[in-house]
Amino acid sequence: MTIDTQLIKASAALIAPLGTQVTDYFYNTMFTDYPQVRRMFPDDMGAQKERLFQSLVYIASNIDNTEALVPYLQDLGIGHIKLDTRPEHYPIVGQSLMKTLEHFAGDAWTPEMAAAWTEAYNLAAQVMVDAAAKAMAPERFEPLKVS
Ligand code: HEM
Repeated sequence: MTIDTQLIKASAALIAPLGTQVTDYFYNTMFTDYPQVRRMFPDDMGAQKERLFQSLVYIASNIDNTEALVPYLQDLGIGHIKLDTRPEHYPIVGQSLMKTLEHFAGDAWTPEMAAAWTEAYNLAAQVMVDAAAKAMAPERFEPLKVS
């Protein structure tokens, strides 16, 4: 799988100046489509919006810099254990992110860009999930063996 990193970086440059209106839109979309995750987040999302925005821009800008990106995502994934984030939550974030990017990219949004972001998000999510899985007790991930 080859991710079109130039497309990702181009869209990162597109959203970087927009600031937290991007994350506002993202959270509104996610909480409307998936109200069940709302309770995982604080009532006041102020600080979180800025942190998530910076994180997304960092990931997209460094998409071709594996040496920086992998340890960053591993730490982020491990940090999400205490937030009760489970692997099944990642597609929820992914879908909401894709809707958000499409909204802000407007006419610049192409099927190629959608494909590049889907691949990049899935890979980032996999690194986070794997790092969390390794950091947690293995018995929580291996199926119970009934003899
Ligand atoms: C690629 C995927 C994701 C990225 C890049 C990401 C990024 C972040 C960042 C940067 C923070 C702030 C952490 C800090 O600065 O200490 C954060 C917090 C958080 N994330 Fe994620 N996250 C991702 C996926 C998820 C998923 C799938 C969930 C579950 C629905 C989730 C739930 C949370 C929660 C509950 C917080 C804490 C909010 C708060 O208490 O302020 N994240 N995330």
